[in-house]
Amino acid sequence: MPDTTSIRVCFVCLGNICRSPTAEGIFLTLVEEAKLGDRFEIDSAGTAAYHIGKAADPRSAATARARGTSLPSRARKFMRPDFDRFDYVIAMDRSNREDLLRLAPDAECERKVHLLRAFGPAEARDADGLHEDVPDPYYGGARGFEDVYDICATACAGLLRQLRSEHELS
Ligand code: 4NP
Repeated sequence: MPDTTSIRVCFVCLGNICRSPTAEGIFLTLVEEAKLGDRFEIDSAGTAAYHIGKAADPRSAATARARGTSLPSRARKFMRPDFDRFDYVIAMDRSNREDLLRLAPDAECERKVHLLRAFGPAEARDADGLHEDVPDPYYGGARGFEDVYDICATACAGLLRQLRSEHELS
């Protein structure tokens, strides 16, 4: 019997209004284009509660819209039970990763936490061997939002490639 269970992916940043909604929207689009929508559950969340209930930041939404990507998310906080709801918890930066690892109840949940840029092209790592951050664009200019989109697009394509291979999806 072929495995038809969903692969559950949650993208996580600080506020859940800029980076993780961008990654979520891009990944949703890639999965739809690959006709794999029925195999995935895709969501995003923040480690902070500042913006709960808000739509994506208008700057993120405009940047994504210009590339043909919509960002459907509403901000919410990542909670401990989310570790049961998701198989892959994808942190946008090392600080998010630290927060998630602190929240993780056990080693199995810790293993679900990955940095998004681990799925991007090989690049510089920090002294701990960790991949780079998706930079926080919130207090910067428009260029930062363009950069976030580009980084997320490349890394999300790599993530989908890896999950297709790991789960033997055609
Ligand atoms: P995000 O960006 O983590 O990519 O959603 C931020 C959004 C809001 C704030 C910081 C970062 N804030 O300080 O309100």
